[in-house]
Amino acid sequence: MTNPFEYGRELSGAEIVDRTDEVDRVARTLTDGGRLFLIGPRRFGKTSILRAATERVRAEGAVVLRYNAEAYPTLTTLAERVVSDAAKALTGPVRKAGKRVQEAFGALRPQLSYDPLSDTFSASLTAAKGQTEPALLSDALGGLDRLAATSSKPVAVVIDEFQRVVEDGGVAAEGQVRAAVQSHDHVGYVFAGSKTRMLAEMTGDEGRPFYRLGARLFVGPVPRDDFRPFIRAGFEDAGFDVEDAAVEAVLDLAEDVPYNVQRLARDVWAEARADGTAVTAERVRATLEQLARRDDPFYTQTWNGLSATQKKALLAVAAEGGTGLYAGAVVRAYDLASPSTMRTAVKALVKAGVAREQETQGAVRYRLEDPFFAAWLRLFIAVP
Ligand SMILES: Nc1ncnc2c1ncn2[C@@H]1O[C@H](COP(=O)(O)OP(=O)(O)OP(=O)(O)O)[C@@H](O)[C@H]1O
Ligand SMILES: [Mg+2]
Repeated sequence: MTNPFEYGRELSGAEIVDRTDEVDRVARTLTDGGRLFLIGPRRFGKTSILRAATERVRAEGAVVLRYNAEAYPTLTTLAERVVSDAAKALTGPVRKAGKRVQEAFGALRPQLSYDPLSDTFSASLTAAKGQTEPALLSDALGGLDRLAATSSKPVAVVIDEFQRVVEDGGVAAEGQVRAAVQSHDHVGYVFAGSKTRMLAEMTGDEGRPFYRLGARLFVGPVPRDDFRPFIRAGFEDAGFDVEDAAVEAVLDLAEDVPYNVQRLARDVWAEARADGTAVTAERVRATLEQLARRDDPFYTQTWNGLSATQKKALLAVAAEGGTGLYAGAVVRAYDLASPSTMRTAVKALVKAGVAREQETQGAVRYRLEDPFFAAWLRLFIAVP
């Protein structure tokens, strides 16, 4: 019997809970030649949404090139991959590929080679003198648009961890990529990323090139009404008795972050299987403690990397539920000099990826990026 709870990889459409609206929206963008930014906190399931939508439209005949920008050491290697994938998907018979690639990507002086064993192409590109990497990538996307113009199938590009594309090149790079994407009529684009603040600013700030280039879709938590039956079924299908309070405890302790929900549920399942007892809220809490202990070296390292002020602010975020942090009593309780000291420290935690901002009805609530870090703090650090 295999554990039904899975974490740490992109799930397929059949495996994900809910997300029907998000998958529909991404799929429509891909087939209609639209532009969409999919933005959400880490481990909320963005990549799984992209995969589910890609699988669906590919099954309907669309050509989708999907990339994780962080998986490429340079933008040039990403551009080369775009060219070789385009050669495979859009140039027809292999013997014609070289000529058609020259026509579409000529300015990049592409060297194309074909490996008949794996039926794949590889391409190497040469930047023109003074051409930056974002400009090279833009040119590669331009070539793809030319090839797509001759295709009867919808063609689209998905770039996950999109912030990586413009991280090094700043606003100039954003301008170049925008200019390319904006002028393409034959390719749909979906860009996704998790540095929520950065992507939100990049696309929502009037002064930035990506302002209003495309629609924005913010990925939130999976609604509890959808997650509850999934969690319950995972345990019940294996014959375990499940308390309602246990399901609730999984969602509470994981703070509804899908990755953490699955990770905690997976360990609880494994233990219930090992000793054959019921799934109770008590067991869920005990399992989380074990998990936090097991990851102790990692949390210790993160903790030790923080300044004394940041440590105090982190305890406040974890223990106060992330709101009301600047109230005088809270600032004093955590032994900080002033509300502005708290503010600076909290900002630093966000920048370091330890905390994140969650906007709720106009107010900002701070959460830990990894909700299990809070369990570690409760276990090992004395909270004032
Ligand atoms: N809709 C969902 N239903 C159930 N589990 C989910 C769902 N979405 C995500 N998960 C869980 O979260 C894990 C991470 O998902 P995914 O990689 O898609 O998230 P992500 O937002 O792309 O993460 P990252 O920010 O690390 O790139 C999955 O392996 C799975 O365990
Ligand atoms: Mg991802």
